Amino acid sequence: MTMRNEDMEGVIFVIFGASGDLAVRKLIPALYQLYKGKYLPDNFAILGASRSSYTDEEFRDKVFYDSEFIKSEKKSDDASTFVNRLSYLPLQTAETASYAKLKSRLEILDEQYSIGGNYIYYLSTPPFLYETIPACLADHGLNNEERGWKRLVIEKPFGYDLDTAIALNKNIKQFFTEDQIYRIDHYLGKETVQNLLVTRFSNGIFEPLWNRNYIQHIQITNAENLTVGSRGGYYDKSGALRDMFQNHLMQIIAHIAMEPPIAANADAIRNEKLKLLQSIRPLSEEDIENHVIRGQYMSSQIKGERVNGYREEEGVPDDSRTETFVALKFFIDNWRWADVPFYVRSGKALPTKVTEVVITFKDPPHNLFRKEMVYNDNNQLIIRIQPDEGLLLKFGMKVPGSGFEVKDIGLDFHYSDLTEADVPTAYARLLMDVVKGDATLYARGDSVEEAWRFVKPILEAWKNKPELKVKGYPAGSWGPPDVGPLIEADDLTWRNPCSELTTEGSSIEL
Ligand code: BG6
Repeated sequence: MTMRNEDMEGVIFVIFGASGDLAVRKLIPALYQLYKGKYLPDNFAILGASRSSYTDEEFRDKVFYDSEFIKSEKKSDDASTFVNRLSYLPLQTAETASYAKLKSRLEILDEQYSIGGNYIYYLSTPPFLYETIPACLADHGLNNEERGWKRLVIEKPFGYDLDTAIALNKNIKQFFTEDQIYRIDHYLGKETVQNLLVTRFSNGIFEPLWNRNYIQHIQITNAENLTVGSRGGYYDKSGALRDMFQNHLMQIIAHIAMEPPIAANADAIRNEKLKLLQSIRPLSEEDIENHVIRGQYMSSQIKGERVNGYREEEGVPDDSRTETFVALKFFIDNWRWADVPFYVRSGKALPTKVTEVVITFKDPPHNLFRKEMVYNDNNQLIIRIQPDEGLLLKFGMKVPGSGFEVKDIGLDFHYSDLTEADVPTAYARLLMDVVKGDATLYARGDSVEEAWRFVKPILEAWKNKPELKVKGYPAGSWGPPDVGPLIEADDLTWRNPCSELTTEGSSIEL
């Protein structure tokens, strides 16, 4: 975040769905963080639009003064300048006639703050409006870049499957060009996901080893200890494969495995990510049967307290087969990764919250000290995406004394040691980038489709083959018991990112 506000053009943020959860929890706090850090231009305004009928004052109370997500001082001069730039427009979002009001409000704000016609439209709405809003904006010329730029930010889910994603891209592109579209994936805004690129491509020591000659396998764990809670209604139509794997985790995979881009710009990086996604070997029916596991959490006792099973959650049918856990193994068919297995597991109601990438290196070709090793492990580079962001490199060292006793030790770097500064939230970073017109950390349409192409056969098999069971796992365990064998069949093990396994795995088929 190097560009400061004096270098920036004016902008109006229009947040559709501004009375919703995302705007209150993430967007307004992120914009305030940017404002305080002087990362917004002096000429800015934020216009909330949705069907609820707030006045400007009520809106300001809701998203700022009464918000538990704005932690800092709310009575300062700084805060009141920010709040004065917030306004609200009740809008029938699905009715094009209503957008005449939007247009005239934008004209007023534009003149008041000398914006110069630069507008960011943030669709924080239910996905069924993703096609309607761009069409309505276009009806009123609000996509037109004759005076100032217009950018459209779209939240996930971007499509429900491959066909709907293709259709959505096609429809939106009738009104906005690819350069105007910013598909947000908040994982790309995480510092440590960006740091994957810096670790790989700004150091001489990692990249030469980053291939099939030295790497034995790669595993990614994405665990949440929370259950779906009150989000059952949304989640039940989605499931772990759509909710986490198709977007966030496939983006992480692309960052870990892509070829070095020719430059650090949006096109170069996104071209390489697309190529990588295209190189993932499609899963055959047999692979899906043997190397994809879906699970659903069941009620259990965690630290003496009963936790609801998924089917007991609000908005979830009693016979739901939606997966709250998925694990799979796949290969990438290119020169760099041939024969290197990738394993990914992701789920809710697991023992802890952690996302980490584990790169395990091959054994030395002739290990003189194998017999002496106290802890016979391969070298590993562990990239902790969250929490306690950092890098851990594990390797063997001689224990002082006679003989050659070798012990596994870790060089551990914590991100928090690098700066005391307020690290921008993922949303702040991504909003900053859209103001600058930098799409590097946004998902391009073709790669979103490619990620759907990979998961398509899994979704189809789960839908059409009742013999592919959903396995129950007790909330608080590491998923169904066959998750271990998925990797153990290859003589490998999952790394346990925490030692506090609260519940032993046991399972029934659902
Ligand atoms: C969202 C998913 O995209 O990411 C949620 O819809 C999930 O189900 C969340 O909980 C996880 O994000 P984070 O940043 O907390 O890892």
